[in-house]
Amino acid sequence: MIGGQHQIRLLAFLLYDVKYMAKLIDQYNRKINYLRISVTDRCNLRCVYCMPVEGVHLRESSEILTYEELLKIAYVATLKGISKIRITGGEPLIRKDIIRFVGMLSRLPGLTDLSMTTNGVLLSEFAQPLYDAGLKRVNISLDSLKEERYREITRGGDLKRVWEGIGAAGQAGMSPVKINVVVIKDFNDDELVDFARLSLERPYQIRFIEYMPVGASNGWEREKYVSSEEMLRIIETILPLAPVKKAEECGPAKLYRFREGKGEIGFITPLSQHFCQTCNRLRLTADGKLRTCLFSDEEIDLKSVLRGGGGEQELKDLFDLAIHHKPEKHNITDPVFKKCNRHMVTIGG
Ligand code: GTP
Ligand code: 5AD
Ligand code: SF4
Repeated sequence: MIGGQHQIRLLAFLLYDVKYMAKLIDQYNRKINYLRISVTDRCNLRCVYCMPVEGVHLRESSEILTYEELLKIAYVATLKGISKIRITGGEPLIRKDIIRFVGMLSRLPGLTDLSMTTNGVLLSEFAQPLYDAGLKRVNISLDSLKEERYREITRGGDLKRVWEGIGAAGQAGMSPVKINVVVIKDFNDDELVDFARLSLERPYQIRFIEYMPVGASNGWEREKYVSSEEMLRIIETILPLAPVKKAEECGPAKLYRFREGKGEIGFITPLSQHFCQTCNRLRLTADGKLRTCLFSDEEIDLKSVLRGGGGEQELKDLFDLAIHHKPEKHNITDPVFKKCNRHMVTIGG
């Protein structure tokens, strides 16, 4: 009898293994296990590097995938080996019933990491319900510690609300809390030290991101770019930084800390040292397109297949197709390159 039970368990395990075996390995031998899902192309801010002043063409709500459709895709993605999902936007917290969607995703077997990137404006209200629904960590975009400048870069945002949101995330038990700072020359590079100091007193991971040329009108010019090497040099004028060892799957940020710091400092270096050779991600846009690289306009249309009656196998095939088309690397450091057509707000970072 015991032997029989053992055999049944073994069979169940083997079936599970077969189901999860056909993982996404691309032609450059990268294991793709991370999907960024954009749930909306709308945002309650208008950051200058992310969208033009007049806003972007918004898709009709019928063009946007429903939560049930997104869940179907996410489920198939986990069958293909995706174990990490990040919810992005636009601003994900402005989509109605987002807590319900977090709850749906968090119950997916096969998912080991569920996170969100938000501008933090609505986080004070949402942090606890998000946490309770299964979201254990957030990344928050914050490009200035000065109220007036924050208002300028976001075209109207209120810094106080973001601080309340960051506080609420910590109080709800979210960890780590990461703060994303896009560094722009002669705009906020004079705040590098102030941002870095935050990691002395608070347990945040402050991540400085090199300004990237993404999207038709994101205002990027080579002169506005600050390399992470230069950032490090500026920050080390106050205190030396020591590198932090991290697990391989912990994303593209290179991590450091001050010896006495409660938090960490990260550098995301898509230009000075791209991390494409370890790229593990795909992106799903709110209108149902699978993107194989942040900078590439090649998209695979999952929505039509889904709405045309396609099921699990068809979606799996499209994931395979996406992997087959995933480029080896971006070309944004080539002397001549073409910015992608989408605005960043419709890709989700
Ligand atoms: P963690 O899992 O917490 O490390 O998150 P993440 O860094 O993947 O996500 P987040 O949304 O916080 O992105 C931080 C910054 O890194 C954003 O500016 C992204 O656009 C940039 N970034 C994220 N993924 C990629 C990528 O694949 N390529 C490039 N070039 N930049 C990326
Ligand atoms: N360069 C670098 N980072 C960017 N982000 C948005 N646009 C850019 C850009 N052009 C960041 C946002 C957010 C994350 C998802 O992407 O600040 O934190
Ligand atoms: Fe991956 Fe493209 Fe980003 Fe490179 S630029 S890390 S290939 S998404």
